Amino acid sequence: MVILNNRVIITAALPYANSDLHIGHIASTYLPADILYRYMKLKGLETIHICASDDFGTPILIAAEKQGKTPEEYVDYWNRRFREDLHSLGIDYDLFDRTSSRENISFVQAFFTRLYRKGYIYVSDVDQFYCEYDKKFLPDRYVKGKCPYCGAEDQYSDGCEVCGRVLQPGQILSPKCSICGREPIKKSTKHYFFKLSAFSESLKEWLTQNKNLQQDAVKYVLNWIEDGLQDWDITRDISWGVPIPLEEAKGKVLYGWFDNHLCYITTALKYAGKLDEGGKEFWNSSTIYHFIGKDIVYHHYLFLPAMRIGHGDFKLPDFIPVRGHLLLEGKKISKSRNWVITIREFLEKYPADYLRYYLARVVSSDQTDCNFDWVDFREKINNELVANIGNFVYRSLSFAKKSSGQIVPRADKVGKEEEELEKSFRKAFASYTEAMDSLNFDRALKYILEFSDSCNQYFQKKEPWKNPSDSSVTIYFSLNSVKRISILLYPFLPFTSSRIWAQLGLKGSAVEHGISEVDRMISPGQKVGEPEILFSKV
Ligand code: 2FM
Ligand code: ZN
Repeated sequence: MVILNNRVIITAALPYANSDLHIGHIASTYLPADILYRYMKLKGLETIHICASDDFGTPILIAAEKQGKTPEEYVDYWNRRFREDLHSLGIDYDLFDRTSSRENISFVQAFFTRLYRKGYIYVSDVDQFYCEYDKKFLPDRYVKGKCPYCGAEDQYSDGCEVCGRVLQPGQILSPKCSICGREPIKKSTKHYFFKLSAFSESLKEWLTQNKNLQQDAVKYVLNWIEDGLQDWDITRDISWGVPIPLEEAKGKVLYGWFDNHLCYITTALKYAGKLDEGGKEFWNSSTIYHFIGKDIVYHHYLFLPAMRIGHGDFKLPDFIPVRGHLLLEGKKISKSRNWVITIREFLEKYPADYLRYYLARVVSSDQTDCNFDWVDFREKINNELVANIGNFVYRSLSFAKKSSGQIVPRADKVGKEEEELEKSFRKAFASYTEAMDSLNFDRALKYILEFSDSCNQYFQKKEPWKNPSDSSVTIYFSLNSVKRISILLYPFLPFTSSRIWAQLGLKGSAVEHGISEVDRMISPGQKVGEPEILFSKV
């Protein structure tokens, strides 16, 4: 049983402000976070959903330079585009901010200063690539060369796309400046390091004591600790980033992974108006969820908690749900190989709820990779959404229209079938809430399907069209089941849920009434709305 505070803060990993969001991002992060957000609101909890664009870093600076834009202009474009894309999928935030906001920059600088004063940050000389022609240091993507592990040419100096290895500064072979193509020299510069290694014991303790953490992740993170943690170089000699707030560090900025996750806190406090005062209490009295994809486990299970432990004011996350990668037709999604479906591309063809439905069905609640398969997509939409849920809703409403003039009849003569239908709802509902509370959204969705299936069977068995004089009870129970389906679907298919709600002629929306509304029956005599087909076949 999960115990929650009265306030819940849900964050989703911040997207880098340099490329379109695609179905893989939605599957692993944004949809699961949004499903939980809607569910928590349905339960009546004060819930805050926040996100931001991840604006800083070398790749973004390089991309802006290539387009002849300032980095500010460049990230502004992406920030707007993210909000539009996510909104069109029904994924909305209480605040979608940016890591380059004034508030985040000053919060990060204060955070740095505290860690520095407490001795968790030290300075050390490092050799960095430097281009004598361009007169600049060349971190990360400013250098290309040959991978020392697999020999692949034309790889960035921070990682090889072919063998997937992370490369340390200076490791790449035959380095070339990615601006002018000349060979860089090595030059000594002062870098600031975060003492991650000092936190091995406290991290271990937190990882073993917090049972809400995803156990498959905890297992291998503990192994990483056993292998020994490396301190993190948190400095970049570029102009685009949070300036290091030390006189002697002029011209240096913080590495993006130092500031981006702090933006979770800044954004939540900014939304709550608690940046100046009361922020600590606000944060610490909330239940915190950080939704992420599996490629950033290291950052969220080690680096982020270590920074918070070192600082001391802000509590660690209660939950860090990690989802696997989404494959597209069995192959890794790749923007550079154009093997990708962006949100915009998907929505040109199908409604948002089709994507939400399919992804919620196939993404499991652990780190197992899942697959977007067009044939499977067609089958799930046609057999489950169209033939099961859509069919039941439409036949109930259209029968009510035909036989009772859109008026909810009285339920006289409640019989064995109705009792069975009620039993099947109770069972589905208990399983649904258990699955939702434990973040098993794929399972929860299946319970809705099972309930809808029993509704279809009920309707079929009762054959109300054959004995109109005895049809009232069937219509009454069917309409109330439709209402229950609309409520349970709300976290998954918000557009569909509100269409059903409107077709039932109900006021407001499912979320305004809350989950306990499943126990309130529609009053006889009430008028229902116009039936409309919910889904069409793919
Ligand atoms: O991996 C990424 O896409 C990063 N932009 C995620 C950042 S999440 C955070 F802010 F911690
Ligand atoms: Zn150069």
